[in-house]
Amino acid sequence: MKRKTNKVTLDALASLCKRRGFIFQSSEIYEGINGFWDYGPMGCELKRNIRESWWKSTVLLREDVVGLDSSIIMHPKVWEASGHTSSFADPMVDCRVCKRRFRADQLCEEQGQKLARDGNGFRLPDAVRCPHCGENGRLTDPRAFNLMFKTFVGPVEEDATLSYLRPETAQGIFVQFQNVLSVSRRKVPFGIAQIGKAFRNEINPRNYTFRSREFEQMELEFFIKPGADEEWHTYWVAERMKWYRKIGLPEESLTRYVYGKDELAHYASACVDIMYDFPFGVQELEGIAARGNFDLSRHQEFSGKSMEYFDPDTREHFIPNVVEPSAGVDRIALAILCEAYREEWVPAGDTVSEILEAEPGKQPPAGFELRTVLGFAPCVAPIKVAVFPLLKNKPELVAKARAIFETLRERWPCFYDQGGAIGRRYRRQDEIGTPFGVTVDFQTIEDGTVTLRDRDTMKQQRLPAAGLAAAIEQAMK
Ligand code: GAP
Repeated sequence: MKRKTNKVTLDALASLCKRRGFIFQSSEIYEGINGFWDYGPMGCELKRNIRESWWKSTVLLREDVVGLDSSIIMHPKVWEASGHTSSFADPMVDCRVCKRRFRADQLCEEQGQKLARDGNGFRLPDAVRCPHCGENGRLTDPRAFNLMFKTFVGPVEEDATLSYLRPETAQGIFVQFQNVLSVSRRKVPFGIAQIGKAFRNEINPRNYTFRSREFEQMELEFFIKPGADEEWHTYWVAERMKWYRKIGLPEESLTRYVYGKDELAHYASACVDIMYDFPFGVQELEGIAARGNFDLSRHQEFSGKSMEYFDPDTREHFIPNVVEPSAGVDRIALAILCEAYREEWVPAGDTVSEILEAEPGKQPPAGFELRTVLGFAPCVAPIKVAVFPLLKNKPELVAKARAIFETLRERWPCFYDQGGAIGRRYRRQDEIGTPFGVTVDFQTIEDGTVTLRDRDTMKQQRLPAAGLAAAIEQAMK
């Protein structure tokens, strides 16, 4: 399908997402809580499809990757070893007048300034003002603010019971490296994959779900022989780009940001961010980093347990290096929604002669009406097939439609809808991105055929009900 040229606004998208049950503000009846989101009936299916597609391509269809589901709260030493306790922090400033708190790097960027390094800390340029009250020179010096959420394990709240909600799933993989290696009987190169929640007390959650305080990661730690870093890093960047194409984010909608040597952490040899052109700018969906053996070495040092691997072919011991593709489910869901959203002018009724791209702020030409579509790739669409009897007060149509629905739902998430005008029922499915619609009408009773409607072209073909599943299967490819 041709790529749309109009970009969706975040307001239009958020309105559709609420109206159609993709995304709700968390705790909305209590005015919400900043940085937290709930996924409604459609949103949770969309996310499930993203996770399942990632898991299938990263774990199930490979012989060199296995899965893990580690705990969210771990021993606090994990975060000392990983460096999160000492340095997982954002520079933050407070306004002395309005008492609001901002991220110093974002503030500088928004005001065309650069945050200067000052010894171990940062210095705010004099020209930067408070974006809320506009006061100049009333912001504090930047201070490091650790992003990990603290909690206490057990009934006593004291330093000894202090722990953290994990800010990434990756460390759970590193600390179980030896256990997984021994039970899975894999040889390096091999990987461990994990999907799960991560928590960061972001100073400035923003851009809808893009930067949240609770989010989900899909991370792979792929362990390799030292020296093979470049080869495997290139391999995983290419693999991940292929996957994005499969879920409906084609190469031309993505940008690869290659880190310069001076931007890399001291232990890393390469990093590429896969970015998407969101309505608020080009931003990261996933980072793919060659991290050397930093994490395993640090856990060996802090735990006193060996993280070495014995290579039976070369008969040598070494701590493996790692290549880490790390993606965010929520950001990918948001990118898929932005990419899929389009507004079109279509002939009124559901006859199709021509589909025009809607021009923002203008009325459709005579005889046309606006339709909003989520043009999801079928593999991520929450509902794959909607089934409709043409009329709800004709028992023979309803019975046949229900029978078809019961058969198809064994294979795919399906939706049965008998209420209202058929055109309106199609539009509702267009808005949640259902790729196929099956309608049972009077001809069905006569000759056993139904119509199969394609969401994007709105064209309908007539075919025997018995051949529906095969036709849908074929069209999904
Ligand atoms: N283990 C490496 C790691 O965690 P990261 O770049 O900090 O790297 C990886 O995070 C991915 O997690 C990001 O590319 C993004 O998709 C997602 N992510 C990170 N912070 C997020 C946030 N506050 N809200 C939503 N997603 C986030």
